[in-house]
Amino acid sequence: MRQQNLEIRHLFDQSGDRFSQFSLTAAGIFLDYSKNQLTEKTLSLLVDLAREQKVEPQRDAMFAGEKVNFTEQRPVLHTALRLPQHSTHNVDGINVSAEIDAVLGQMQTFVEQVHNGDWRGATGLLITDVVNIGIGGSDLGPKMVCEALRCYAHKGIQNHFVSNVDGHALDSVLSRVRPATTLFIISSKSFSTEDTMLNAHSARNWFLQHFSEENLSRHFVAVSSNRVAVEAFGIDAMNQFYFWDWVGGRYSLWSAIGLPIALALGFSHFRALLDGAHAMDVHFQQAPPEQNMPILLALIGIWNRDILGCRSLSIAAYHQDLRAFPNYLQQLDMESNGKQIDHQGRIVEAATGPIIWGDVGTNGQHAYFQHLHQSSEITPVDFIAALRPHHQLAEHHLVLLANCFAQSQALMRGKNAQEVAEEMSAQGLSSDDIARLAPHRRFTGNRPSNTILLDELSPAKLGALIALYEHKVAVQGFCWGINSFDQWGVELGKVLAKVIEADLRSGTPGSSHDSSTQGLIGKALSAGNMVDLSSC
Ligand code: F6P
Repeated sequence: MRQQNLEIRHLFDQSGDRFSQFSLTAAGIFLDYSKNQLTEKTLSLLVDLAREQKVEPQRDAMFAGEKVNFTEQRPVLHTALRLPQHSTHNVDGINVSAEIDAVLGQMQTFVEQVHNGDWRGATGLLITDVVNIGIGGSDLGPKMVCEALRCYAHKGIQNHFVSNVDGHALDSVLSRVRPATTLFIISSKSFSTEDTMLNAHSARNWFLQHFSEENLSRHFVAVSSNRVAVEAFGIDAMNQFYFWDWVGGRYSLWSAIGLPIALALGFSHFRALLDGAHAMDVHFQQAPPEQNMPILLALIGIWNRDILGCRSLSIAAYHQDLRAFPNYLQQLDMESNGKQIDHQGRIVEAATGPIIWGDVGTNGQHAYFQHLHQSSEITPVDFIAALRPHHQLAEHHLVLLANCFAQSQALMRGKNAQEVAEEMSAQGLSSDDIARLAPHRRFTGNRPSNTILLDELSPAKLGALIALYEHKVAVQGFCWGINSFDQWGVELGKVLAKVIEADLRSGTPGSSHDSSTQGLIGKALSAGNMVDLSSC
C-alpha cells in the first residue's frame, strides 16, 4: 500500500455524499470518519489487510477464551464480564458467567447496604467517603468513569482516588476525610504493586490512629485476584471482591475493580455501563469488517500510523466530564500496543502503537491546537462529543459543539495561499504586508480526524465508547502480530527501583550505578528526609 497523497478537501469536492459514505452507527455510537485521507479503494485494501492478518479468527479466539495472551498463557475475557446476567460461557469446562454473576451479586448487595445505611462505619455513622487505593488499571478506568458519569452519582457518597506513591496524594485525601465515615477500597489485581501497598499500609496506619484493629472490617475492603495476599494484609474474607487472572488490569473496570463506580453511581447504572459495552461487543463480533466500527477505527489508525507516518493520536473530548479519558486511553493503548515483537519473536517491520495524548475541548484549543494546525508534525485527532448535555446552559452547548465541528473542518480544509491573500486584501492590507505575513497565516490542512458522537454521556453510551476503543486497540495488535495483553515493559524500572530504595534506606549509593544515577541518589541523601520505611 503506498501513500497516495490524497487531499481530503478534494475528496469532499468530488463526492457530495462523503459524510454518509464514510460514517456509521453502532451500539448507539456514531462515527464520522470522512475527514481521513481515504477512498473506498483505500478502505477495501485495509479490509483486505485485516483479512490477511486474520483479525476475525483472532477476535473469535479472544471471545472464546483461547489463550490469546500468549506470553502469559492466559485467556483475555473482559468481554465475558459484561455478558447479560445468567449467560453461560464455558472456558476449560468452567462456566465463568456463573462466577461473574456471583461477584456482581456480592457487589450489588454491598453497594445497596452502603447506600441504604445497613453498612455503617465502626461508630454507626453512615459512609460518606469512598477512597479507592489502586494504580494503573486499578485506578484509571474507575476514576474516569466516576468523573464521566458524575451526573448519575448517588447523593451522599464522595469518591476519592489515590494512585500515586507520592505521599502528597494520600495526604491530601486523608486531610479531607474522617476515619469514622470513610471506606477504603484496596484495589490491586496482584495485591503486590508497591505503590498501592504502601498507600494501603499508610491508610491503615492512619485509621488505626483513631480506631482499633477490630474496627478495620467496617472500613477496609479489597478487590483482587490474589486471595492469599489479601488475607495476609488482614482483610476479612467477607470484604474481599475477587476477579480472575484472565482480566487484564487495563481491561478490568468491568470486574470488581468497578466497585468504586458502583458505589458512586448505584448498581443499576453500573449494570447499564456493562450492557452498553456488551452491545459494542455484539457489534464487533457480528458486523462485517467493512461496517465494523472497532475494525474500521483500527484500520484508519494503522493507515495514519504506518502509511502517513503519524506518530501520535490526540484525543479531544468536547465534554468536561471526559477530562480523564485521554489518560485512561493512554494506558489502554500504550500499555497494550507499545511493543515491537511479534508472535514469532521478530521485530515488527511496521511502526506500532501511537503515542496517545489530549485534553478536553475547548481547553486544548487555547493550548496545543496551534501545533495540530500548523506544525510540521501531522497528528490525527479523535473528536468526541455528546449531542445532549446534562446541564441547562444551552448557549454553552451550542458554542462547544460549534468549536468541535469547526476544528475538524479547519484541520481538514486548511487555508491555501490564495485564500489567505484574498482574505488579507479584503481586510485592506498592503501587498507588501500580504507577501510578508501570508506564509504565517497559511494552513496546510489535509490533517485527518474522526468524530465520535454520543446522543448523551450516559452509562450505556460510555460503556459502548470504552469497548469501542478496547476493541480498536485489540484489532491493531492482531494486525501488527503483537501481544496487546501483556506488559513486560513495566518490569525493569520496578526492579531497579528496589535497588535504589535499598540505597536510600541504607544512606549510601551502591557502587554498581552509573555516575548519573549515583549522583542523583547522592543529591537525595544529602537533602535528608529519607525516613525509614522498612517497616512497611
Ligand atoms: O505496572 C503496570 C501494571 O501492572 C498495570 O498493568 C496494572 O494495571 C497496574 O500495574 C496495577 O496493577 P495491580 O492492579 O496488580 O496493582
